[in-house]
Amino acid sequence: MKPERLFSLIVLLMVVLFWGGCSKREGAKTGGEVKIPVAPAAYADKHIPEGWWTDEKVIAEGKELYEGRKNMDVNCAACHGMGGLPVLTGARDFRDALIVGKWSDGYWFWRVSEGVPDTAMTGWKEKLSEEEIWQVIAYSRTFSQGGKGQ
Ligand code: HEC
Repeated sequence: MKPERLFSLIVLLMVVLFWGGCSKREGAKTGGEVKIPVAPAAYADKHIPEGWWTDEKVIAEGKELYEGRKNMDVNCAACHGMGGLPVLTGARDFRDALIVGKWSDGYWFWRVSEGVPDTAMTGWKEKLSEEEIWQVIAYSRTFSQGGKGQ
């Protein structure tokens, strides 16, 4: 192989490695540019019932669930923290509006229903009704909205 070709190959390899390194960093847990995975088709079109993001009653029900007072088996705060500040390393910081603000209804519903494979985040669809999942989502989202529904 000609030296120039070998050189271009090495440059190409370096570019690929560098790019790979960066895209891994994109998954970092705080701030910056984060790539949000796409929710599977079955979830992508899910929408929270009209008005629930801001419905105080819905948010209050969600708080009961989130903090483990309504259902002993469900306690999001145990990992995600009472105010959305994670207590378990690796749990998503719900106060981070840069990231949380990018999640669609369907994305939220998918993650809470199915969990995140190979992490401590299990799916909750066996423990929560669809209505309860939306309630807990509505509450979880308030942490990135200055504590209010929006
Ligand atoms: C046992 C600890 C634990 C509990 C309990 C828990 N989570 Fe999680 N959760 C995690 C961890 C860890 C992650 C981060 C997974 C990853 O992406 O690496 C996570 C991720 C998430 C995500 C997705 C974040 C993202 O970046 O896509 C959402 C949404 C979420 N949790 C909501 C909830 C809700 C709502 C509850 C309660 C019903 C809950 N979690 C209970 C540990 C937990």
